Amino acid sequence: MDGNEFLDWCSGVLVTNVGHCHPHYVEQIKAQAEKLYNCYDFLSTPRADLAEKLVQISPDYLDKAFLVTTGSDATEAAIRMVRRAHEGWEIIGFHGAFHGRTLGAASVGASLGVHAGYGPLVPGCIHSPFPYCYRCPLGCAGPDVCGFQCLEYLDWVVSQESCGELCAVMTESYQGGAGSIIPPPGWFEQLDQWRKDRGIFFILDEVQSSFGRTGKMFAMEHWGIQPDLVTLGKGLGSGVPCAAVLGTSEVMDALPPGSMGSTFGGNPLSCAAALASIAIIERENLVENSARLGQIMMDAFNEMKDKYEQLGDVRGMGLVLGLEMVEAVQSKAPAKELAGEIIHQAYLRGLACIAPIGMLGNVIRVAPPLVVTEEQVNESLDIFEASLKAALAGA
Ligand SMILES: Cc1ncc(COP(=O)(O)O)c(C=O)c1O
Repeated sequence: MDGNEFLDWCSGVLVTNVGHCHPHYVEQIKAQAEKLYNCYDFLSTPRADLAEKLVQISPDYLDKAFLVTTGSDATEAAIRMVRRAHEGWEIIGFHGAFHGRTLGAASVGASLGVHAGYGPLVPGCIHSPFPYCYRCPLGCAGPDVCGFQCLEYLDWVVSQESCGELCAVMTESYQGGAGSIIPPPGWFEQLDQWRKDRGIFFILDEVQSSFGRTGKMFAMEHWGIQPDLVTLGKGLGSGVPCAAVLGTSEVMDALPPGSMGSTFGGNPLSCAAALASIAIIERENLVENSARLGQIMMDAFNEMKDKYEQLGDVRGMGLVLGLEMVEAVQSKAPAKELAGEIIHQAYLRGLACIAPIGMLGNVIRVAPPLVVTEEQVNESLDIFEASLKAALAGA
């Protein structure tokens, strides 16, 4: 607004994967704007092309796509789909999860900021601890020694809370708003097996983690898992609202014609924007860029962690990282104000960061657009370290 220039660690809020106003993206949106904006019941070329493209770039067994407008919309659609395709109606979600602010999405999610003051929520949502290993809610020493106590605890939660009507489990691929919390290796595979053994569906929320953000086109490619439904949003449209549910015929064919729809979902303008964004990601190798530059950032933050004990934990995959700020290594007391001050200092030096996130409000989120260059990454890291020093000096 004031004509200042910033390096961007926000990407909107993990949306603008192809950067701001990429020429190809702008050109394709302009071209579509001159043709058609909405045609609802009638198929348009961009809608068909986008559905086909999503199926083509995702794992083979996912063979259908349903287009909506926002991530919350995609969550709601996925909830309706699993409830329709299964006799049960209970859904398991995880503490700290965020799947959107609409009532169903807020109910399957479990973040206090979304729940408090809006109850009662939708019945049939059961919650269990997520593997937040830096601060294990079950007090375990770490994934290497605990044998995933949190998954064993899931059985206990189900035995106490479920009426025997389970139909699905839903989780983000990493918990974003809760503080960039990434499950330890093996956790996803065990969760997938757990739910297969119980004959229930698996919804993976990739609203934030897809289209190259984690160094793979979809985060699910990091693990050997087979979610039945995958929700997409944010980076799909890369700025213009566009969201989707990717799924298997088994689930999606259970819906009678006409039982799902959306006025704006799959509109030609959004689809043209999404197609342009995917084309840029593919042509400019942004998935590889995300993996490579993400590693550079991870190494740099780990070096800083050795120097500054207030940098308690560094987590990340590709170009989405979380820096958990603490008072001291041993106490791990959350340093919420310090996190806010570092962001303020960075802002003064020309680096834009999103306000602190996390269940304790002490995590700095790092998520540059995937078109970022190595030079810009290095410049932003220097600014960050200077901001950290300045915040500590004033503390
Ligand atoms: C993981 C996740 N799921 C769902 C949503 C909801 O998306 P939207 O805000 O587009 O409704 C978000 C938004 O932040 C998100 O991060």
